[in-house]
Amino acid sequence: MDKIVVKGGRKLKGAVKIGGAKNAVLPIMTACLLTRGVSVVTNVPGLRDVVTMKSVLERLGVVGSLDDHTLTIDTSGLSGFEAPYDLVSTMRASIYVLGPLLAACGKAKVSLPGGCAWGPRPVDLHIRAMQELGATIEIDHGYIVAEAKGLKGRPIKFSIPSVGATANTVMAASLAEGTTRIINAAKEPEITALAEFINSMGGRVRGAGTDTVVVEGVKELHPAKFRTIPDRIEAGTYLIAGAITGGKIEIEDACPEHLEALILNLRQAGVGVECSGSVISVRGKRDIASVDVLTSPFPGFPTDLQAQYMTLMTVARGNCVISETVFKDRFTHVPELRRMGADIKIEGNTAHVGYVKRLSGAPVMATDLRASAALVLAGLIAEGETHISRVYHIDRGYEGIEQKLGALGAQIERVPE
Ligand code: EPZ
Repeated sequence: MDKIVVKGGRKLKGAVKIGGAKNAVLPIMTACLLTRGVSVVTNVPGLRDVVTMKSVLERLGVVGSLDDHTLTIDTSGLSGFEAPYDLVSTMRASIYVLGPLLAACGKAKVSLPGGCAWGPRPVDLHIRAMQELGATIEIDHGYIVAEAKGLKGRPIKFSIPSVGATANTVMAASLAEGTTRIINAAKEPEITALAEFINSMGGRVRGAGTDTVVVEGVKELHPAKFRTIPDRIEAGTYLIAGAITGGKIEIEDACPEHLEALILNLRQAGVGVECSGSVISVRGKRDIASVDVLTSPFPGFPTDLQAQYMTLMTVARGNCVISETVFKDRFTHVPELRRMGADIKIEGNTAHVGYVKRLSGAPVMATDLRASAALVLAGLIAEGETHISRVYHIDRGYEGIEQKLGALGAQIERVPE
């Protein structure tokens, strides 16, 4: 097991390229199950989660290869319909095979994902949507066992605009008989990208990016080529890295429209942010102001940037209130930031972040993907060295983070634990 060691105090300078979006590629990979043949997806990030999803598909008889950020997926030999516990337990997104397998094969057996570091993460909305499309589902020995003799389109209303449930429903409805109208759908850019991929396969998905998505089922889809959108969470993390170190960096191959909520907060905090095309320039400064935030579904402030933003607010003048409304217990990074001298009090789903002049380096432990990114950011400004263990979490969502930060002037390295 490796750990990452960061020596704080350097202002970051230069340019960094953003990779493709993990949370767009994962459902796009499973959407390939909706057809037979070879699909090609480019701008794919080299991440552990992408490799895990490729393994899930290979268990179904699919042949996949990832070469220099290009993914080739051949579903001609699709024969299986089970996503096993050993894979699903390492990556919840494996549940994205449920909708496509039901639509394309009429059956699916998918291990229940179980909880995560922040508590229970149910999949009841996924299951209910499949049942509303006509599938029979039972939970058997920890597996979702689903069958359908052809899915039928109909209106489906979500109580929560769940990203995952929206993705599964859009994929299943693409081959259903008739029209499915998804009300209170998720509006995340990753859903829009998925819809664009399905439409490039000959699908009929309209309204993606709004809270009402209409899917007209078609008889069959064909393989396609598709370029993945930039990863807005990776871009946001580097934006905060530039702001927190008082540096000046260019974030390239990004999509500023996907980061409006973060950019607004950074500007209010006194950070210089300029956007031109796919380049976002950030000019941090030592003395920034605290700005409250409330996480919410897109286009609100993303929960996946909450931990990183909290790190920034630990050294911002004033008291900052951070309300986490998407995953109410998503504060596993707080005890580790406190170990580094941060002043944070938790009340329910709200964190009260006080100002400290400087954090101090310490041995800390990553608990999940975004928490580990927040600890790396804290290490960039802390006095002395920060040793972050369990960094396998970070490899799930950040490709070559120590190389990218190193190229911007950070003192960071990965060493065996
Ligand atoms: C996706 O998770 C992302 N994962 C998460 O990013 C992200 O935090 C989340 O959306 C919110 O933006 C991927 O795209 C692979 P949800 P997902 O369904 O689909 C509740 C990262 O760091 N809910 O939108 O699982 C749920 O408990 C990851 O890259 C139900 O109650 O999120 C939560 O409170 C972490 N029942 C809320 O809805 C359900 O059936 C939103 O969850 C489904 C969800």
